[in-house]
Amino acid sequence: MNKVEFKDVFDIDESYILRVLAWRNQEFVRSKMVSKDIISEKDHLNYMGKLVGRDDNKIFVGFINGEAFGIVTCKVEDTNIDYGYYLVKEELLGMGFGMLMEYFSIKYVFDNFFVDKIKIKVLDDNKKVISLHKKFGFKVSGNITFDERSFVTMTLEKDIWEEKKERHKKIINKVFNVNTSL
Ligand SMILES: CC(C)(COP(=O)(O)OP(=O)(O)OC[C@H]1O[C@@H](n2cnc3c(N)ncnc32)[C@H](O)[C@@H]1OP(=O)(O)O)[C@@H](O)C(=O)NCCC(=O)NCCS
Repeated sequence: MNKVEFKDVFDIDESYILRVLAWRNQEFVRSKMVSKDIISEKDHLNYMGKLVGRDDNKIFVGFINGEAFGIVTCKVEDTNIDYGYYLVKEELLGMGFGMLMEYFSIKYVFDNFFVDKIKIKVLDDNKKVISLHKKFGFKVSGNITFDERSFVTMTLEKDIWEEKKERHKKIINKVFNVNTSL
C-alpha cells in the first residue's frame, strides 16, 4: 500500500522553500498561472517570509512514499478561498495526481473554512483543469479578463461536494492503492 501525505511547507526540511520556487518557475507551470513571469529568489523568499505562521495562506507539498509529486496553494482572498496546484515535474502528467490534488484542495477548504461555496478562476485555455474541476462538481459561473488574459470563474457548492466526496475518495484510494484519510 502506498502512503500519500500533504505537508505544510514550513513543517518540513527548509530546502523545500527553494525547491518550491524551482518547481513553480517551470514553463509548463507558470504558463498556466495568473502571474506567469519567472519569480526571483529574492521575491520568493520575501513572499514566503510573510506566510510563516499564517492560516489564511498555505502551501502544501504532496508526497507519495516520501517523494514530492505536487504543490497545493490555498489562500483567503476577500470573502473567497482560492486554491491552485501544480506537478513538480512534467513527466508526472496524466497519472492522476491532478485528481488527487483537486480532492485534497477542496476537502481542505471545506474542512477548514466556514464557506458554503468555493469560487476559483482558471485560464480559459487550461481545458484540462476546467474539465477536472467540472468532474468535481464545479460549474462555470462567468468570464473575466485580468492582465489581458481571459479566465473563466467556476463555483462549487458545498452540498454538491458532500454528495460526491465519498465517490472521489474511493476512486483515489483505488488508483493510488492508498487508504487515505485525506
Ligand atoms: C493541473 C495538473 C496538476 C493536472 O495534472 P494531470 O497529471 O494532468 O492530472 P490527472 O492525471 O489527474 O488528469 C486529469 C484528468 O484525468 C482524469 N483522471 C486521471 N486519472 C483518473 C482515474 N484513475 N479515474 C478517473 N479519472 C481520472 C481526471 O479526472 C482528468 O480528466 P480529463 O481527462 O478530462 O482531463 C497539471 O497539468 C499541471 O501541473 N499543470 C500546470 C499547472 C496548472 O495548470 N495548474 C492548475 C491551475 S492552478
